[in-house]
Amino acid sequence: MKKNLFMPFVGILAVATSINAQPTLKDTFKNDFLIGAALNESQFTGMNTREAALVKAQFNSISPENALKWEAIHPELDKYNFDPADHYVEFGQQNHMFIVGHTLVWHNQTPKWVFQDDTGNPVDRNTLLKRMHDHISTVVGRYKGKIDGWDVVNEALNEDGTLRESPWEKIIGDDYILKAYQFAHEADPKAELYYNEYSIENAPKRKGAIALIKKLQTAGIPIAGVGLQGHYKMDWPTPAVLDETIKAFAGIGVKVNVTELDMDVLPAATRSQAAEVSMNVALRAELNPYTNGLPDLVQQALAKRYAELFAVFVKNSKLMDRVTFWCVTDADSWLNNWPVKGRTAYPLLFDRNYQPKPAFDAVIRTASPEK
Ligand code: GLA
Repeated sequence: MKKNLFMPFVGILAVATSINAQPTLKDTFKNDFLIGAALNESQFTGMNTREAALVKAQFNSISPENALKWEAIHPELDKYNFDPADHYVEFGQQNHMFIVGHTLVWHNQTPKWVFQDDTGNPVDRNTLLKRMHDHISTVVGRYKGKIDGWDVVNEALNEDGTLRESPWEKIIGDDYILKAYQFAHEADPKAELYYNEYSIENAPKRKGAIALIKKLQTAGIPIAGVGLQGHYKMDWPTPAVLDETIKAFAGIGVKVNVTELDMDVLPAATRSQAAEVSMNVALRAELNPYTNGLPDLVQQALAKRYAELFAVFVKNSKLMDRVTFWCVTDADSWLNNWPVKGRTAYPLLFDRNYQPKPAFDAVIRTASPEK
């Protein structure tokens, strides 16, 4: 009887010991920046105990993969679904983590009703502004003092740096961006406000993002940071371009955070560098070459590539607050299903068995020495 009672603890101890035996990202980079991960519901509710333990051991900042997106938290006009987001925030608080809110105003994962009246026609500017205000004041207000920083607007730009003609822009006009930040700041004046975007490492889009942020600053918005999403390829961006990008944003007085880091090692399915979630390419065998594991050569190349990027982050660590990975292990990554559904992707530092990959060790070696 005694023995049976003791057995489960042996299992827990074994997991804890194997996790503790390795260095942790959060401790290794404590002199540089926070290290974050985007979490899914089974991780922040603790249902997936192994992943929850890995998150607690390795990360000191969290982002919600989906729980705070409009379609998840506000699926109908008069219906909010706070439960998953409440669990997400509780998980962060219990583990003393920096908690990110992602995202308030975006054109994807936002229900059609937001932009339509009862007959399916587009609503007018004032109606949409009111809906945006209600959403932001309700969601940001609920987590006031708990969520530390918000991705207020996500992906407002085209690749050439002009404003994307999203339903927000078409119905409200260009000032929808300013309004979103004003509403968020009103709802929690102490929360940090960020602009989050992909491929702003490329010069034309970077220029657009700098202009957008400067406009907010001129209007008195205390914008704290820009998020480089960091959905990177093996050959893009180069370390020099990344370095130049970080310095360019720091030059206008905002912190630079990497908010959705992953590294695509699979054959390119399109020529685009854009992380446009609506892309969908048909599965062909040659696009999915590593179904039985990653060959050692590719594994080593991935490790080298991660080390080269982290060397840039560490070099610029005074200009940065946080590096967040988009998901925890290779098994959870969206890249298994984007832009081609059903591939076997290897974009992160932990493999499908929750084990650190050679890329993990390579990243650890780039940290600043103890100060
Ligand atoms: C974008 C969004 C994220 C996420 C990723 C892909 O980068 O900002 O919320 O949806 O795409 O999963």
